[in-house]
Amino acid sequence: MKEIVVSGIRSTGNLHLGNYYGALRNFISMQDEYNCYFFIADYHSLTTHPDPTQLNPNVKSILAEYLAAGLDPEKSSIYIQSDVPEVCELFTLLNMHAYVGELERTVSFKEKIRKQPENVNAGLLTYPVLMAADILQHKANLVPVGKDQLQHLEMTRKYARRFNTIYGVELFPEPDAYKFKGEPIKIPGLDGSGKMGKSEGNCIYLNDEDKVLSKKVMRAVTDQGPTEMNQQKPDVIENLFTLMKVVSTSDTYNHFDELYNKCEIRYGDMKKQLAADILKVTAPIRDRYQDIIKDSDYLNKVAKLGAEKARESSAKTLKEVREVMGFRSFK
Ligand code: TRP
Repeated sequence: MKEIVVSGIRSTGNLHLGNYYGALRNFISMQDEYNCYFFIADYHSLTTHPDPTQLNPNVKSILAEYLAAGLDPEKSSIYIQSDVPEVCELFTLLNMHAYVGELERTVSFKEKIRKQPENVNAGLLTYPVLMAADILQHKANLVPVGKDQLQHLEMTRKYARRFNTIYGVELFPEPDAYKFKGEPIKIPGLDGSGKMGKSEGNCIYLNDEDKVLSKKVMRAVTDQGPTEMNQQKPDVIENLFTLMKVVSTSDTYNHFDELYNKCEIRYGDMKKQLAADILKVTAPIRDRYQDIIKDSDYLNKVAKLGAEKARESSAKTLKEVREVMGFRSFK
């Protein structure tokens, strides 16, 4: 049987190039190999963004973006977390074996206390338990997560183990972190910072219009240009080349690399080429997104299909969990 993969998608913020070359492209290729559940973590988003006017448009736009980029509702179960209420039941049950002390020691919780001292809600504290419920409801074997989520996954493993031990069963597998194949591709920022990220405010979004995107690239930080043949590139210039290596052909990359080494490079030309090559990647996704976001019927259909598949899997697990924990009809 195919291994089961579960991953939650943060429901705030648009997708940028860093997301695309990070998780997204891997998600797309995992669909053929595994039984995948991808869901938009809208309950989780309420721990930090409890705004009813934003929730629906955010979720809609994230769903449309993932579909535009290539998640396939026929291959995977793509759903919205809050469409599968079974997860709340499992969350409640798992909470009975999650200790406040260990939750308070979670790095993400301590960070959130610092960041939003005016809203230290219980959802923040129990965030890892809900995440465990997301994963365990499908008896997942593999969870593709970034470094910042590894502690949460470790807690999921602990809750699975604890449940199995307490009730003397082998109900939940302990899910492993899924490592993406090949070298991780890190997309640099074009403002001289090492990384493209939302909090860095330096993102090239998959949705950016041609003009916006070109402007961002043309504004990229550079220097006065090389003064010696074959000199080492300073970080800001290396960043441009790193990005070019990802989006352009190797001929293009080598062409500008040679010009740099001969001290003949004109950054303006390089940036123009870079912008054009980024657009080759993003424009088709953006165009599909524009079509999909207008088609609420289609989006509702996808969400419904995903929820049906996820609920079936979740309900099956919950039936076993309830039985094991002693919820039974009277005899
Ligand atoms: N916490 C994850 C994040 O911020 C999102 C998430 C929620 C998740 N539930 C999950 C990821 C279950 C993997 C599995 O990125």
